[in-house]
Amino acid sequence: MTMQNENLSGLDLRTEIDRLRKERNAIILAHYYQKPEIQDIADFVGDSLELSRKAAETDADVIAFCGVKFMAETAKILSPEKIVVLPDLDAGCSLEDSCPPDKFKAFREEHPDHIALTYINCSAAVKALSDIIVTSSSAEMILDQLPKDQKIIFAPDKHLGGYMARKTGRDMLLWPGVCIVHEKFSETELIKLKAEHPGAPVAAHPECPAHILDHADHVGSTSSILKFAKESDYDTVIIATEPHIIHQMEKAVPEKTFIGAPGADGNCNCNICPYMALNTMEKLYIALRDLEPRIELDEELRLQAKKSLDRMLEMSSGTVGKGDLGPTDLAHKG
Ligand code: 13P
Ligand code: SF4
Repeated sequence: MTMQNENLSGLDLRTEIDRLRKERNAIILAHYYQKPEIQDIADFVGDSLELSRKAAETDADVIAFCGVKFMAETAKILSPEKIVVLPDLDAGCSLEDSCPPDKFKAFREEHPDHIALTYINCSAAVKALSDIIVTSSSAEMILDQLPKDQKIIFAPDKHLGGYMARKTGRDMLLWPGVCIVHEKFSETELIKLKAEHPGAPVAAHPECPAHILDHADHVGSTSSILKFAKESDYDTVIIATEPHIIHQMEKAVPEKTFIGAPGADGNCNCNICPYMALNTMEKLYIALRDLEPRIELDEELRLQAKKSLDRMLEMSSGTVGKGDLGPTDLAHKG
């Protein structure tokens, strides 16, 4: 039965989801950009790297992934024996859309002396065509381990790539993708907001364009922004990332004030991720009840994609030393 012709209004969704989670031996993983009610019912809420690690480690039989499709695919790549459900299969990502596998493959072939460092926000097929996957919290650590003269393609986020290039002094070839959410912050409105809250720092995600990052006091992944918001001495912090993360901040330090950075009209909801917002409690309930929609991957593709993800997990665990990996170790084997 599809959701459209179901009436779930009589159900206590929290209780039902909890019951099904136990019956199915399921773990609910959620990204910080999910609606507050989903974050609150999840077993674990985290950034992309933490969620990948959880998916790889869990001994649950079912992973209900409350995030977007590339995240649920990552869970399936790392835990193929588990059933992975995504409440709404249409929960995509503009970065993934910007990088079709055939175009990425052709680009790689034009630059055979470059390795591909690819942001986790991409399809399993693009992961399979990449050498090392990175997240915003692992990119710098991974770049630090590559020889300085290594030629690198960074895809698909040109803003994260540009930020990393500026920070590490590396000249990388950037794929021209953007996150439609972080792209919408307005520099003019941010300057006005800062003037209204003198002294309040700006914490920004590196998916923001450079003209926004130029005004930031702290740049990092969602987990890193959350840590800064909780631990820094400021009473008021301006948050330049998807605003649902503010829920965790308000729970952790209710005495502080967190203000979402504005879009062009100064007060819009345009910075809510439309893909993440597709997941609802109703769809999570149905996913746990029906064990659908499921993520399924071709085994050959999965194994190829796993190589680049495993490199990320290994290189972000601190066990590989600086400069340890050279071009020969990383050359893409097709
Ligand atoms: P992180 O949680 O890794 O910072 O990623 C942010 C994001 O945009 C996920 O889609
Ligand atoms: Fe993709 Fe941006 Fe949404 Fe993250 S916030 S899922 S990068 S569109």
